Amino acid sequence: MPPTNRDLTDPSWWRTAVVYQVYPRSFADGNGDGIGDLAGLIDRVPYLARLGIDAVWLSPFYPSALADGGYDVDDYCDVDPRIGTLAQFDELVAALHDQGIRVVVDIVPNHSGSGHRWFQAALAAGPGSSERGRYIFRDGLGTSGELPPSDWVSHFGGSAWTRVPDGQWYLHLFAPEQPDFDWSNPEVREEFHRILRFWADRGVDGFRVDVAHALAKDLTEPFASYPRIHRDVLKDDGTDVLFDRDEVHDIFRGWRSVMDEYDPPRSAVAEAWAAPARLPLYARPDELGQTFEFDLVVEPWDAARFRDSIRNALERARAAGASSTWVLSNHDLVRHASRFGLPAGTDLASWLMTHGTDPVEDREAGLARARAGSLLLLALPGSAYLYQGEELGLPEVADLSFDALEDPIWDRHGHTEKGRDGTRVPLPWTPDGPSFGFGSGGSHLPQPAWFADFAVSVEDADPGSTLNLYRRAIAMRTALLAGDGVRFADDREGVIEVLRDGAWRSITTFGVSAELPDGELLLSSAPIGADRVLPPDATAWIRDAG
Ligand code: NOJ
Ligand code: CA
Repeated sequence: MPPTNRDLTDPSWWRTAVVYQVYPRSFADGNGDGIGDLAGLIDRVPYLARLGIDAVWLSPFYPSALADGGYDVDDYCDVDPRIGTLAQFDELVAALHDQGIRVVVDIVPNHSGSGHRWFQAALAAGPGSSERGRYIFRDGLGTSGELPPSDWVSHFGGSAWTRVPDGQWYLHLFAPEQPDFDWSNPEVREEFHRILRFWADRGVDGFRVDVAHALAKDLTEPFASYPRIHRDVLKDDGTDVLFDRDEVHDIFRGWRSVMDEYDPPRSAVAEAWAAPARLPLYARPDELGQTFEFDLVVEPWDAARFRDSIRNALERARAAGASSTWVLSNHDLVRHASRFGLPAGTDLASWLMTHGTDPVEDREAGLARARAGSLLLLALPGSAYLYQGEELGLPEVADLSFDALEDPIWDRHGHTEKGRDGTRVPLPWTPDGPSFGFGSGGSHLPQPAWFADFAVSVEDADPGSTLNLYRRAIAMRTALLAGDGVRFADDREGVIEVLRDGAWRSITTFGVSAELPDGELLLSSAPIGADRVLPPDATAWIRDAG
């Protein structure tokens, strides 16, 4: 099938792109040290091309102490030597561009790693220095400053303040190894413009912006109380103390002007866990252009809930003049093949703590729904963000032993939450070999024996595999997508029917079966017999008759 969307000069490519997220340390290991790297990734470019994706989004590959899987960046303009070199990065970009695949890199602007030269200089320079002014250092409370400056908590548990030997405290909304920048400091703004240009000059096509809604904070003292971080307590009028403040948009307007220095302009997508009504602000054309829609990652497998989420997301994208983004999995979430195999309302963190034994995951139902859900989202206008391994229908590795865990959540939550390692286990490429073909050595997180069933080579050879379903769906979507036109057929209980441009439709069943309308059956996530009945938890794409 001839790929469209592959013209590297097209400025609107991101509007309908299928973007594949690579978590570099767990994708492919070129030198057998158990850590995924750029050499491994370069080797697998043919795999990515065959999958038919439009872009690769690389999670951080920068030098890092790995206190948070690389989201603690020590140098924004280099490659972690364990992952490769800048020369290999250039080689990767060239190899992907040769295949018409664009490259998106992760920018982590809320905080650096504590090994960053600026943070080290801030520690050395002492209170009141301009070096400290790039971060958020304050004196403590209490008679001798022994108490943190406020009750703010870290996302990963515990206080958001850590004390340094001279007695001051610095703010970190994440791990202590992730000190927050002070974005009211023009030096910080300039530095990130430089970083954007550094990667854009190297041919990077777009940016994924980490915790985009956190950069502006109300630092008026005494600090307002904010003892709990949760979407429920977040104010939705631009005046929240820590998140989604109006001033953040000024920062992104600055980024847009940098991204527009390039031809084609560089794209961006915000990771902003803001109130839904505020998401379009980040996606405005003079800002980032797109923002992740995360509704579906918390919704149960339910037609009415899915339909509402999809309609709302489409409406928000329209309001922003953007295109919507569809996400079911990423490196922070329990894989959707497992999520959909658990009873609605399961507390996923508790489920992980039981090593995935309570409740018991229904693997078959989970996989059927994951395939159906992915096909539904690939039928919608907008862009789809896929996470490595979901094209294999890979479940979460819920049974990781406690001593294998790498995620800071485990320690910071006093060993009551396992965190996100179960979705970051290195991919299986072959059914055997030392790390299922991930590399010639081991794997930094242990892979379970059942990974063999999901290996790329196994699925490649099976026409009914999830891998081959994704390949067909992506190729067909690329060929079928005509415009933004989308309509929902009348609500039928348990069914979502999406009509595309009067040319084709996608029908998804949630726990019920449905007779398919006339028209050529293009693709389905489950086998369909001569009676043309779509079984429960399945999606079919049909070309409209006549
Ligand atoms: C969001 C990233 O996706 C996550 O992995 C990371 O821990 C936090 N931001 C902090 O950078
Ligand atoms: Ca390696």
